[in-house]
Amino acid sequence: MIKFLDLYQQYQGIRQEMDAAIARVIQQSSFIGGEDAAAFEKEFGTFQQATHCVGVANGTDAIEIVLEALELAHGSEVIVPANSFIASSEAVTRSGHRVIFADVLQDTYTLDPADVVRRITPKTRAIVAVHLYGQPCRMDELTAICRTHNLKLIEDAAQAHGAEYKGHRVGTLGVAGTFSFYPGKNLGAYGDAGAITTNDIDLALKCRMIANHGRTGKYDHRFEGRNSRLDGLQAAVLRVKLRHLDNWIERRNRIAAIYGDGLAGLRGLALPMIEAGTRHAFHLYVVRTEKREQLAKFLAECEIQTGVHYPIALPKLQAYTYLGQDKEPMFANRADSTLLSLPMGDHLSDADARAVIQAVRRFFE
Ligand SMILES: Cc1ncc(COP(=O)(O)O)c(C=O)c1O
Repeated sequence: MIKFLDLYQQYQGIRQEMDAAIARVIQQSSFIGGEDAAAFEKEFGTFQQATHCVGVANGTDAIEIVLEALELAHGSEVIVPANSFIASSEAVTRSGHRVIFADVLQDTYTLDPADVVRRITPKTRAIVAVHLYGQPCRMDELTAICRTHNLKLIEDAAQAHGAEYKGHRVGTLGVAGTFSFYPGKNLGAYGDAGAITTNDIDLALKCRMIANHGRTGKYDHRFEGRNSRLDGLQAAVLRVKLRHLDNWIERRNRIAAIYGDGLAGLRGLALPMIEAGTRHAFHLYVVRTEKREQLAKFLAECEIQTGVHYPIALPKLQAYTYLGQDKEPMFANRADSTLLSLPMGDHLSDADARAVIQAVRRFFE
């Protein structure tokens, strides 16, 4: 069986470090915040080349907290890619703003800057740029658009830990970056966790206060915030994994390179492209074919697990039909029935990747 994801295998490779880290937190009883949470913020900030890092409870909260900290006028329009996980847009609505979906590029599935420009109105205040599947967005173009129209650029880097754009890690290319450490992510906790990165000290402080009941001291609450803190056990888990993350991302890139070589030239199968000047984090390896259902079934019969990210484009979800963007002839609205995620992760060997290639080639040939 070639698994889509194998977190137990990953654990076995780091078992001693992990068990010791978890035992230390329990011994110290530092379950909320504490030494590991503070150290992880520092280490992850350094890893992402960000001056500030604020640990929070999950990646969805991270986006919401940044939006709140930016103090956009109530009812502002925020542009979000039409292909993403619902968290990217949910955070906008839950912050009291209006989601406007923009299309994604056919080769890389990230925000299409030209379509973003078409969606801008006098009410637009921000863009959530999702580095989907681990591929950084076209940040130069998006930054220029934001400068021209005075918009805030937020990076949803939930799938892109360690990804780079022109030699710089994602997460501080806009005003702030948001990360998810959901267990299946490239850097995954053993539960929910998230983080915000920024080079803006005031924004970092504001986010930290929002995430912790608006407090500065124990009972000194400057405003009403919320409870969205990074817990000590998750921080300890993440610190252990962070030490291995660069190697794991290299492994993902190697698997992607093997797939790229082995699957090239198959008629009816579109492979993901890597944007020039970027380091892809390959959270997911997503191919496109009109025969998606048949291919997934065939691979399952070959004991190869696959996934779909995402089966329904955001504008077509029941949650968003009120926007009326489900009928728009966007690439994202058409592509959702063709996307298929092949196995990807540090659990895969070169031989696993070659077995996947063999099966996919057999299907098409
Ligand atoms: C692109 C994207 N944004 C946001 C999130 C939300 O993260 P979380 O599940 O930690 O709330 C996720 C992950 O699930 C995601 O894939």
